[in-house]
Amino acid sequence: MMTKHIGLLTSGGDTPGLNAALRAIGKAAIGKYNMQLTGFKDGFRGLMENRTIPLDAKSLSGILTIGGTMLGTSRDKPHKMPVGGKIMDMTDVIVENYHKHHLDCLVCLGGGGTVKNAYHLMKKGLNVITLPKTIDNDVAMTDMTFGFDTALGIAVDAIDRLHSTAHSHHRIIVVEIMGHRAGWLALGAGIAGGADVILIPEIPYDINVVAKSILKRARNGSPFSIVAVAEGALSIETSNKLNVAVSKLNATEDKENRQKIKADIKRIKSENKKNTLEIAKQLEVITGLESRVTILGHLQRGGIPSAADRLLATRLGTACADYINKEVYGVMIAACNNGTKPIPLDEVAGKTKLVPLDHFWVESARSVGTCLGDYC
Ligand code: F6P
Repeated sequence: MMTKHIGLLTSGGDTPGLNAALRAIGKAAIGKYNMQLTGFKDGFRGLMENRTIPLDAKSLSGILTIGGTMLGTSRDKPHKMPVGGKIMDMTDVIVENYHKHHLDCLVCLGGGGTVKNAYHLMKKGLNVITLPKTIDNDVAMTDMTFGFDTALGIAVDAIDRLHSTAHSHHRIIVVEIMGHRAGWLALGAGIAGGADVILIPEIPYDINVVAKSILKRARNGSPFSIVAVAEGALSIETSNKLNVAVSKLNATEDKENRQKIKADIKRIKSENKKNTLEIAKQLEVITGLESRVTILGHLQRGGIPSAADRLLATRLGTACADYINKEVYGVMIAACNNGTKPIPLDEVAGKTKLVPLDHFWVESARSVGTCLGDYC
């Protein structure tokens, strides 16, 4: 059988565990199957610009514990790529380069956006495989994404540290945790860190309900509170505005009208970006308790991957080499129970895994008395 030539790229926000996954794919592909590997720098842009890194046993060694990605990453999409000050569809160039490099398969390590881009390339006839990574854990049809566990640990450590200072100063500390669409990280970190309030995009909050729960704690002898807020948390008012706009969008076919409504949706979402600061201000006014804000930001994506992420990345990466050997293409390698499962890209593209309202994390948070902003 001919030696297979595999292209690899990392796309979207970096996550701890990407290097562990590249190493696992590479070690298994080279060691078990004698495949040849080429890395493309900075996501789909590197494939478009032919910027490569040879990947061999030597370059893949010593990277298991290193954060970030040795290939570099970008959020560039094949069909909407900024080139020379314009947004261009570079799909054809990417397809051409794939063939120029005589690739048998392109492995794209990324989140939901990467799955959509890979699916787009699959429809152009390329053999693609994706591996699910993101600290947000919001990729559909996989039990877990790598990067999530490390970020969870960092966010929990931060909440633990914020607790002692909030307690000492009798303050409210509002801590913003990453996650624009899904609240997995804020919910998980909030529960594990014992936050008193957790606000996630899936459960619109009423600021008066939040304030009431904080005042109740104060009356019961705890005049301090930790409020864990996901980046994308929405007040009931903002959520209603968005729902109205989305219904209007779904009800019209008119191009001009649709553009106006889409601009409206964008504006509402962009105004919501300062939400964490707003929440702290509102709580200070309503409760009379001093408030502070901590935005964890990119700290959550940095540094060495946790053991669980290394294990998951290695499980998915080695399975990826096995699927390539069997020529199973056009799939995302999902984590499934204790193994892996190839999910056809058309089944996963465009889907997001949100926190179900009856998820056991939601139920256990409520059971220990955590306020989720809707009722307490
Ligand atoms: O990659 C996911 C994520 O970390 C989200 O949690 C966050 O909202 C976003 O990326 C931040 O993106 P950027 O690094 O491009 O600012």
